[in-house]
Amino acid sequence: MPLSAPDYQFLKNLVYKDSAIVLGDDHAYLLEARLGPLAQLEGVADVTALVRVLQKAADPALRRRVVETMTTNETSFFRDIQPFEVLKNTILPELVKKRATERSLRIWSGAASTGQEACSLAMTLLEHQRDVALGWDVQILGTDLSSRVVERAKSGLYSQLEVNRGLPAPMLMKHFTRSGVQWQTSSAVQRLVQYRVMNLAAAWPLMPQFDIIFLRNVLIYFDMDTRRAIFTRLRNCLRKDGVLFIGGAESIREADDAFECVRAGSTHYYRHKTQPTAGIG
Ligand SMILES: C[S@@+](CC[C@H](N)C(=O)[O-])C[C@H]1O[C@@H](n2cnc3c(N)ncnc32)[C@H](O)[C@@H]1O
Repeated sequence: MPLSAPDYQFLKNLVYKDSAIVLGDDHAYLLEARLGPLAQLEGVADVTALVRVLQKAADPALRRRVVETMTTNETSFFRDIQPFEVLKNTILPELVKKRATERSLRIWSGAASTGQEACSLAMTLLEHQRDVALGWDVQILGTDLSSRVVERAKSGLYSQLEVNRGLPAPMLMKHFTRSGVQWQTSSAVQRLVQYRVMNLAAAWPLMPQFDIIFLRNVLIYFDMDTRRAIFTRLRNCLRKDGVLFIGGAESIREADDAFECVRAGSTHYYRHKTQPTAGIG
């Protein structure tokens, strides 16, 4: 049975409440296509029947599965390469100089999906700041709403198809080993990266002060109020001279004027407006 307008509204509200993801009125087809297989797994006839189950009794685990099914986890190694080039050429060399005494770096890949972004950050450090990566107190935190993708990220296992996307062959050879038909991240990468479930739209746990934040290709799913709330909290966990990368198609301008945009080749990043002009970039 095709999903009725009230049932669509019910699911749309549920997804918004639990993740802040906004489903447009034209997303009914997407919802049915994604939740159909979940309905089958749950042993009910279709998405309408799944809605009835959700309405009948509070089932937090089922709610979570519904929301996770509606997340888009598209990612790849060194996605949009430019931010990693800017890190390598400008930001990391400057940060390393500034942190020479404390010998510590904190990096956050928010909305990390299956971990390719966090691993790309780790490989950038291992390739270009090897002494720092191996000798300093470096932590790369990857977080995501979906426990399913976080578990996959934690495994550090990637398919041939996944490593074919964005990962140069020499890096594959250096930072991965074969594990059956899959590829396993090296212990050096694993030591740098940790993963945790975190909902950007709910209360945040106590976060460290980050030197670098990647929050890419997730803001597009949120409305302006959610983006504003996220930027306010980002301000509090980005160090005074830290840098923030968002997705190429995303903008901070209408949502927060406490950050300034720094152009860097064909990409850009953000930093606190109050930062002294001699800062990074
Ligand atoms: C398109 S992926 C982006 C992955 C990576 N940042 C990149 O650019 O390749 C978007 C991720 O955002 C996550 N996400 C969606 N809503 C979220 C929320 N409220 N809190 C945390 N993560 C969320 C999804 O689970 C998904 O894995």
